Amino acid sequence: MRQITDLSQLAQWQAEFACSTQPLAFVPTMGNLHAGHLALLAEAQALNPRPRTLVSIFVNPLQFNDAADLARYPRTLDDDLAQLRHAGTDAVFVPPVDALLPARDGGVRIDPGALAQGWEGAARAGHFTGMATIVAKLFHLIRPQFALFGEKDIQQLIIVQSMVRDLNFPVNILAVPTQRAPDGLALSSRNRFLSDTERALAPQIYAQLTASAEAIIRGEAADLVLQRARAQLTSAGFIVDYFALCDAAQLQPMPHFSGDAILLVAAQLGAVRLIDNLRISP
Ligand code: PAF
Repeated sequence: MRQITDLSQLAQWQAEFACSTQPLAFVPTMGNLHAGHLALLAEAQALNPRPRTLVSIFVNPLQFNDAADLARYPRTLDDDLAQLRHAGTDAVFVPPVDALLPARDGGVRIDPGALAQGWEGAARAGHFTGMATIVAKLFHLIRPQFALFGEKDIQQLIIVQSMVRDLNFPVNILAVPTQRAPDGLALSSRNRFLSDTERALAPQIYAQLTASAEAIIRGEAADLVLQRARAQLTSAGFIVDYFALCDAAQLQPMPHFSGDAILLVAAQLGAVRLIDNLRISP
């Protein structure tokens, strides 16, 4: 596995494959890798023809609106590299912050538009602008034919798809289903901050998602189902930010279930903000 730490090494690695027709698949991450990230990589490696794979590890300061959250984001590089090596990654790109955000950064940013206004965008000001800007930079530097994103961060995925479409980026975005623990909890780097008691409660989020999806498909009124889910999570000890039904394309609230929809949830458990979602079709 080639370990690339600056832009000239990246250019050098690209140059070595300049004459190759083998595609390049890119998995952007912020490190602290778990089975969810490895599923993205495995999906890339399963493409036919098998592409070269590059994983980036970069804790992007632009997408944190809270300095304390950025400071405590788990950084586990040695373990990440061992996992990537074991999984047969071709290259890992681990730039220092000033390689992607140099002091002369002029402040040009990607405006992700209306899709970024609600849900996580409302809770975390500037988050999606910072995410889209760094993903755009990584796409320019890495020039992959494929890039893989998890459905766990569904709003992020939809914004990246929209950016690529609106700005004609020459990359195919592949969506990979959320990886879950056996009890249903969506895998996330933030799960490690849950206490044992919180970890035991956390699967209730997915339990409420599946129960709500079933009730809505059975024909119960969506607003009542959502209200019940919020109340049950609240009484279990969560502070629910949103538990909503939206259309799967624009993530606009859907008052009555019709067509392709997604249940979206964000809830705070202790110090940890958990998000999850579940797609439902008639
Ligand atoms: O999902 C993430 O880990 C990040 O938002 C991403 C896509 C790597 C951009 O920093």
